[in-house]
Amino acid sequence: MAPTTTAERSLSQAKVPIAADNVETAKDRELHNHPKKVHVEFEQFYGIAPTHVDRRFDLRLSHLSYLPKINNPHADWVVTAALNAFRAYQSGGFGNVHRFATIGTGSGTDVIAAFDTFVGLSSVAMTDMHEEVIKTAKSNVVSATEKAQGCIRRVALQAAAKVGDLLLPLKGEEPFDLIYENLPNIPLPGTMHDLRDGQTSSTYVGDRSADKVPRSISAALLELHYICLVQARSFGLLNTNSTILSSIGGRVPIETILEVADVAGFTGRILTVWWKEQSEPESVIGGYAEHEQQGLGPFHFYPTSALERAFSNRTPAGVGLHVIEFVEGLLPHRLNAVDALQKHREGVKIGHTVVVMASVLKSAQCQR
Ligand SMILES: C[S@@+](CC[C@H](N)C(=O)[O-])C[C@H]1O[C@@H](n2cnc3c(N)ncnc32)[C@H](O)[C@@H]1O
Repeated sequence: MAPTTTAERSLSQAKVPIAADNVETAKDRELHNHPKKVHVEFEQFYGIAPTHVDRRFDLRLSHLSYLPKINNPHADWVVTAALNAFRAYQSGGFGNVHRFATIGTGSGTDVIAAFDTFVGLSSVAMTDMHEEVIKTAKSNVVSATEKAQGCIRRVALQAAAKVGDLLLPLKGEEPFDLIYENLPNIPLPGTMHDLRDGQTSSTYVGDRSADKVPRSISAALLELHYICLVQARSFGLLNTNSTILSSIGGRVPIETILEVADVAGFTGRILTVWWKEQSEPESVIGGYAEHEQQGLGPFHFYPTSALERAFSNRTPAGVGLHVIEFVEGLLPHRLNAVDALQKHREGVKIGHTVVVMASVLKSAQCQR
């Protein structure tokens, strides 16, 4: 993934002032501007009318919760990735979803999307890193199902809300039919490990050396997605009919995303692809730009105007089926992170594709 063209090389060598004072203030505003409570009109936020959960509800947010982008759904992970993938999975008849888990739930809006999509849920588990985040996420799931049918309400009230790293809180559980994860990509440097300081949206505690992640996957900044797959397999959290959905910003080649599943012992396919406005752009594009300047990447971003045009009249599953050709069509608009950061600071709205990969366990025979 070294820069391939002269233009890419010169851009990734150009130093962007990533840590200037005004930049730190902008990052601070992005990550620490937390409301305690937000009101959600389901249809306005998720873009469709609800079928099983409440039309309107309040979400509580702890100061460490990842913020749902209620006023800008184009920038929200659950709206652009999770809901599209759940609907494609359900309408594609990929499998019945009775036991569902989500890893890194944030405010719980992904679980609410699952309740609205999968009619037969009988057991739900949700995890995140901090007690206060997971407590408020559970209360949000309960709040969004107050008027729901008895069985949905019962499962929501009984949802297991667990704290801890990746799939560790689920170790020992029965296999799930579907696991969803949307974990961050940018490792924090060794000196910045205080994740209690604001939302942990785009970064994670950097030292995963004990997890023995293959070099190509670390270099693509996809470590947590790989570790999640490995843990799901080794903790026995999936059976042969189960699927794990990895929700990943398409800032690296599709082949690299599929490689994550392959080396973790899974067969991966791209279920859905959509686009998303880059949330917390100073922090996230800045994080990628720093890694580019250290020789990784290039990472892929686009002006949102180009993404909006390319995705018009398409569906998430339709783009998923033709993803390689589709991404090739976006090439003339592609920016590396250093260039995207510059454009963002000039006032251009920057986005990226969001890819949901569906992975199933390789049979023991295939793994030999
Ligand atoms: C990009 S946010 C997504 C949140 C939510 N799924 C959404 O779409 O709104 C990533 C989430 O993963 C959580 N997270 C980060 N590192 C984690 C880890 N090692 N184990 C579990 N959760 C983690 C963060 O706290 C955050 O809530």
